[in-house]
Amino acid sequence: MNDMSRHQDLSPQADVGSDLDAFWMPFTANRHFKSAPRMLERAEGMYYYTPEGRRILDGTAGLWAVNAGHCRKPIVEAIQKQAAKLDFAPTFQMGHPLAFELSNRLLGILPPEFGQVFFCNSGSEAVDSALKIALAYHRMRGEGQRTRLIGRERGYHGVGFGGISVGGIAGNRKHFGPMLAGVDHLTHTHNLEHNAFTKGQPQWGAHLADDLERILALHDPSTVAAVIVEPVAGSTGVLIPPVGYLQKLRDITAKHGILLIFDEVITGFGRLGSPFAAQHFGVVPDLMTMAKGLTSATVPMGAVAARKGLYETFMQGPEKTIELFHGYTYSAHPLACAAALATLDVYRDEGLLTRAAELAPQWERAMHGLRDCPNVVDIRNIGLIGAIELAPRAGAPGTRAFDAFTRAFHEQDLLTRITGDIIALSPPLIIEPAQIDDIAASLRQVLTTLD
Ligand SMILES: Cc1ncc(COP(=O)(O)O)c(C=O)c1O
Repeated sequence: MNDMSRHQDLSPQADVGSDLDAFWMPFTANRHFKSAPRMLERAEGMYYYTPEGRRILDGTAGLWAVNAGHCRKPIVEAIQKQAAKLDFAPTFQMGHPLAFELSNRLLGILPPEFGQVFFCNSGSEAVDSALKIALAYHRMRGEGQRTRLIGRERGYHGVGFGGISVGGIAGNRKHFGPMLAGVDHLTHTHNLEHNAFTKGQPQWGAHLADDLERILALHDPSTVAAVIVEPVAGSTGVLIPPVGYLQKLRDITAKHGILLIFDEVITGFGRLGSPFAAQHFGVVPDLMTMAKGLTSATVPMGAVAARKGLYETFMQGPEKTIELFHGYTYSAHPLACAAALATLDVYRDEGLLTRAAELAPQWERAMHGLRDCPNVVDIRNIGLIGAIELAPRAGAPGTRAFDAFTRAFHEQDLLTRITGDIIALSPPLIIEPAQIDDIAASLRQVLTTLD
């Protein structure tokens, strides 16, 4: 197609479906993909289907997101019904019933300390919203000097400028200039020397939280607004918090009047066997971000939950004045609310928010059963999350896991996810025991034949 026809002719073109050039794919090796595409055309339950009709076992819940399984009827129908009833309504100075219903339903599964929910459209927006709420909260209390934000090395908090600033993955930061000022990072908790092949939480490493005291001493605690961490770091390749680590962060932040934010975009909605990681680890933060499993990824939606007292701090000044100058056109979009409410029904009716706890022992055995495969330097697991870390090929880091990923897809009909030389797994929470065995068998096949 030449440039002119592309601009002038809006009728369907014979070649538009097969021309892969126009879509600039996110977080993708575009040239490699387009030379050997991996297409998914439809999905049902635990499986994707390719255009050629191959059935692909979803080992990653899409992107850590499709917790209820694919194309679940009650969720699909709720979205369809809502689209015909109320397609859109603004939530700036207006409201619609589902937004309030969903907020209350979420409070029902959050720790009882939480009081309000703020909606957005993605995990990245949830993170930026949480950071902004933290900054504004301190200002409302007359502590506007608290402007510093502390993240953690290897953290992933999405791709907004706030998220990459507090995030700690070098590749996500290096092209994008200085980012937010006044950000510092805790050391990460990954340590193969002490913790390789740990099942569940490592015993070693709680002391790494003391790094926060070092950072606070440097900047003075009174300048710090918030500390943000993923309770289990996901996208960087599954880093599981050592026993006692998160509680230490809680104690130190509370001592200094600093807000603690848990980024629960991956860990929320049953991934660890509790509704949220906060409950799993018994540590209550001040703000929690969520997305992904909130609608089982059917309609984009993110949210920030705020501990009781934060919202009240904003409720001052003249009553006709906006209290928080923040929001998105699609905050609490009716289709997303309908999808989330139906998803919460499925979670409740099928016990999915606690199912990972039941499956975790078998999952753990299946993952650690791969320990003898070549090049495996670590295996770690918690809830329905697993990671297999491979030794990098000399001079070509990342290529061994990349080959494992493509071969799992093309040869074993299994969808996995990779970061560097780590294979990460996080299947839908509806997975059956036999499918856990299928994942392990496919991975064994790939790993034993990979150079
Ligand atoms: C912990 C965490 N925070 C934020 C995000 C960003 O979410 P989104 O891609 O929906 O913007 C992700 C995505 O994987 C995530 O894992």
